[in-house]
Amino acid sequence: MRLFEGMKNENGVLSIGGVKLTDLYNKYKQALYVYDEQLLEDTCKLFTENFKSSNFETEILYASKAFSCLEIYRLISKFNLGTDAVSQGEMFTAKQAGFDMKKVYFHGNNKTYEELAAALDYGVSNIIIDNDYEYHFINDLAKEREVQVNILLRINTGIDAHTHEYIKTSKDDSKFGYSVYDEKIYDLIYDMSNQSNLNFLGFHSHIGSQIFEEESFFEATKTVFNFSKKVQEKVKIDIKVLNLGGGFGVYYTKNDKPMELVSFLNRYIKVIEDERNTSGLNIEKIIIEPGRSLICNAGSTLYEIGGTKKTYAGREYIFVDGGMGDNPRYALYKAEYECCIVNKINKENIREYTIAGKYCESGDIIIKNVNLPQAERGDLLLVTSTGAYNHSMASNYNKMRKLGVVFLKDGKDRLVVKADTLEDLIKNDI
Ligand SMILES: Cc1ncc(COP(=O)(O)O)c(C=O)c1O
Repeated sequence: MRLFEGMKNENGVLSIGGVKLTDLYNKYKQALYVYDEQLLEDTCKLFTENFKSSNFETEILYASKAFSCLEIYRLISKFNLGTDAVSQGEMFTAKQAGFDMKKVYFHGNNKTYEELAAALDYGVSNIIIDNDYEYHFINDLAKEREVQVNILLRINTGIDAHTHEYIKTSKDDSKFGYSVYDEKIYDLIYDMSNQSNLNFLGFHSHIGSQIFEEESFFEATKTVFNFSKKVQEKVKIDIKVLNLGGGFGVYYTKNDKPMELVSFLNRYIKVIEDERNTSGLNIEKIIIEPGRSLICNAGSTLYEIGGTKKTYAGREYIFVDGGMGDNPRYALYKAEYECCIVNKINKENIREYTIAGKYCESGDIIIKNVNLPQAERGDLLLVTSTGAYNHSMASNYNKMRKLGVVFLKDGKDRLVVKADTLEDLIKNDI
């Protein structure tokens, strides 16, 4: 298993941020999401320090969908990041955290009138338009309230990035955005840019998630610039802002070969600068929206092993006190992870196990076929790189309680999201 910065072998026991995971489990006595706060902070800094240019402003938006809670908005605001939100819930959470709502961009492919009204109530003034009805909603709202709203139009570049079907977003039949090849788009842009209460700033493009080929990002950037130039010529408006989305792939297992972020971001900036120069467009701001690459490797899930079972067919299971409710990604798209037994990290990996949870589904699997030391009841298992799209995708299936979230730093643990109580499970029942 790869040890990330902040993970240490302390005499055969794994620690994160100076906190021994055996002590941590003894304190909370239940499975937990754990985050290395220092790694999270370092990654925020890495993005802001390496995605910048002297030719234009840059803005890093954390993609809320990766993991949204009050503390994450407080943390990213220390590094001057903005955020995207795809629901009223994400905007509400940011607002409650005291986040600067001017730095929130509201996304989504089916925003309702009520959600758009709520966005304006919360002080969100950047809306990423995905379709014409929400454009009319926001236009009406802005007029009615006599406010100015910034809008970007989500476009679809048709770039077919190599990633899982479910997380590609720019194929020609994707549900997101408007195709740059659809001639009708120019009339829409003309219309949008002529509304007295809307400031049409430019375009948003996101080609998918967990992408490893930097060429896909560079190609998409070129397409966005070419399209922007065409718009500027045809519609005679200035394009000022381009949001190029997120999707930078991360390490889950040794099968993943992510781009080295620092050098990638530097090359990315160079490609953008070149495109900006050759296009002659006076783009003032470039935005990116990393989610997974900002937070995934900082998070892990700590479980206790309840026991092992060997099936008649010979498969050996380790059962943990969690499963598909806290990590549905294997069930969704056979996502792969690494793990270790935290109290046995000096021991040799001598057995092949499948890690399964306690949910009433055969598909309740976290990792298939992983080599580990001999496991016993009471051992602790850490599954790494669960920092993105785990807590945010968690469910209460089987009336199981969602896990708490703990941040670890400088030898201290800090509970930032409490685990569900039994009462929480019925709080909305009448
Ligand atoms: C519009 C948009 N921006 C950003 C992201 C973040 O992607 P990732 O977490 O892969 O960086 C997503 C996720 O799919 C997205 O849909």
